Amino acid sequence: MNTLKAVLAASTMLSVVTTASAVDLEVTHWWTSGGEAAAVAEFAKAFDATGNKWVDGAIAGGGNTARPVMISRITGGDPMGATQFNHGQQAAELVEAGFMRDLTDLAEQEGWRDAIEPSSLLDSCTLDGKIYCVPVNIHSWEWLWLSNKAFEDAGVPVPTNWDEFVAAAPALEKAGKIPLAVGSQSWQIHGVFRVLLISLAGPEIYQKVYGEKDAEVAAGPEIAKIFKAADDARKMAARSNVQDWNQATNLVITDKAGGQIIGDWAQGDFQVAGEVAGEDYTCLPGLGVGKALETGGDAFYFPSVDDPEISSAQDELARVMLDPEVQVAFNLKKGSVPVRGDIDQSAANDCMKKGLAILEGGGAVPSQEQLMSPDIINQINDLMTEFFSTPSMTPEDAQQRFAGIIGSAS
Ligand code: GAL
Repeated sequence: MNTLKAVLAASTMLSVVTTASAVDLEVTHWWTSGGEAAAVAEFAKAFDATGNKWVDGAIAGGGNTARPVMISRITGGDPMGATQFNHGQQAAELVEAGFMRDLTDLAEQEGWRDAIEPSSLLDSCTLDGKIYCVPVNIHSWEWLWLSNKAFEDAGVPVPTNWDEFVAAAPALEKAGKIPLAVGSQSWQIHGVFRVLLISLAGPEIYQKVYGEKDAEVAAGPEIAKIFKAADDARKMAARSNVQDWNQATNLVITDKAGGQIIGDWAQGDFQVAGEVAGEDYTCLPGLGVGKALETGGDAFYFPSVDDPEISSAQDELARVMLDPEVQVAFNLKKGSVPVRGDIDQSAANDCMKKGLAILEGGGAVPSQEQLMSPDIINQINDLMTEFFSTPSMTPEDAQQRFAGIIGSAS
């Protein structure tokens, strides 16, 4: 069949699909900040335009709160139509147990293997050669977001790297600012530690510890330096006193805090607040030192249901999420990088362009979710929360406990 006929056939099939009866599809996710909600609205608008209906199932409190709810609904026989998880191992047990739909035929029809960039994102969706999720974005954790005005108020220049940021802490304190804003949820505190490790010790050490689970390296001198940096960070964050990541971001947006180490999803909230990268805030990928970014982010999974109309609507949603125009509209609001290599990135702001340059320069490293089981990640989450909230716990004690967890994972 020649190309024209193939295109006509495909469009006819698509029109047939979109004339199927409308389906209300419940979609669960944990995107509840201003920026995240603006991004979700792009997916909802595009899905509603197909004649189906996006029924929003937002779950507040971040991923650690939402995922147990999602998992219990699916395993408890009350599945949603589609749900977010991070790229990586979070849904592996659900896929292995047969709860999730096999999307391989759709992926082949739609050419996902060629369209998705890097194609390794699909590897995180693949089990025994079959594809079970749709990657929708690439988020990276390795960013320090700085309030330009907080440093102006403190009478010190905006830092260009981690060491300058630590050195500016006394002046920020004196000006009544919180030097480092960190939300109290454990995944955020672990994120601060992991960003220090990847940015200051480098991707090779990260791969040895998080990828190869090398307990000797975890107990060694390079990681000792990271626990010293984490000791500086916990002192700088001592007065944060907020829960959710976007509450910490808001301390930076309102110039009450000097900076925050958090993923580039913070960009969505800076945007909603009308803040301009380079003018109101400064972004330092790799803390101004490293040249590596985790290719983390999100993917959607579709619980298997015995209803062809729902399955058809699930396919429609998967198509919409990877549509080139929807990819641009969603990711610009989300602060993440699109998962397609064939779209226009000119609308990216200064910070996103810095991130793209690092990724295009070979700086991509697998995310912790791609390297480690949720169980081990949660053990490190708990250790870092204890370290940040227990001043009597020394960096040496914490490193010893950390090496033990890594050793137990090998
Ligand atoms: C991450 C997720 C992001 C972001 C963040 C905070 O796990 O990949 O999309 O929104 O949580 O909610």
